[in-house]
Amino acid sequence: MKKLVFLTGAGMSAESGLSTFRDSDGLWEQHRVEDVATHEAWLNNRNLVNRFYNERRRQLISAKPNEGHWLVAQLEQHYDVTVITQNVDNLHEQAGSTNVIHLHGELMKACSSRDVDDTRYHVQFTPEHYEVKEDEKAGDGSYLRPYIVFFGEAVPNIGRAADVCTQADILVIIGTSLVVYPAAQLVYYTQKGIPIYLIDPKDEPLAHAPNLHHIRKGASEGMKELTLLFNEM
Ligand code: OAD
Repeated sequence: MKKLVFLTGAGMSAESGLSTFRDSDGLWEQHRVEDVATHEAWLNNRNLVNRFYNERRRQLISAKPNEGHWLVAQLEQHYDVTVITQNVDNLHEQAGSTNVIHLHGELMKACSSRDVDDTRYHVQFTPEHYEVKEDEKAGDGSYLRPYIVFFGEAVPNIGRAADVCTQADILVIIGTSLVVYPAAQLVYYTQKGIPIYLIDPKDEPLAHAPNLHHIRKGASEGMKELTLLFNEM
């Protein structure tokens, strides 16, 4: 089976009703990234940071995968698929994708602020219980924090994601502005000349690469077109 790798960003979930970050009316127009999504923000005002992610979680709970997510998952019938996502939602998993690497954490989890990777203190949220309360502590006595990679923190899954990209036969990029590193760099780990498909209504930094096929559509319509293209191959 060919190895098919998806690299997805906020545009993948836009049609599920979750805001992107940098489009007009995106999350970073409504909130200062420095206040809610950096390591310093966590140290200086953890309750504000927790409230921001509690709200993101509340929105996610009522969101459903869109057709794009379902079509990505269905390709597992014909390809060895890995989804590398910058998204912290779980809509790929809800649609049935079985091999998802989250680069920027997972919204439905909280963790110890002493050691984010110590799974003994991970909390898995549910639709009924999804908030970190004011000054709530993790099992190790440190403050409970969102299981999110804040700006200024290392991206623990980047090595695994880079290995997957190195082995890709086909890369599909959906709904990311490719401005946040190291995620944006992953494209350059693929073997020279493999086909790269980009699904995004807007032009991206990569749009003029020679082996790139740009489908200028949203995630659902774009995935329909890509599925047809793959069926014809
Ligand atoms: P951005 O908001 O930067 O980019 C969203 C992209 O999705 C843009 O290129 C849009 O044109 C595109 N888009 C919008 N609607 C779409 C649709 N319906 N279908 C397909 N594409 C659509 O979001 P990301 O690139 O994901 O990190 O941002 C990367 C990281 O920056 C995020 O993971 C987050 C943020 O700060 C952290 O919080 C650590």
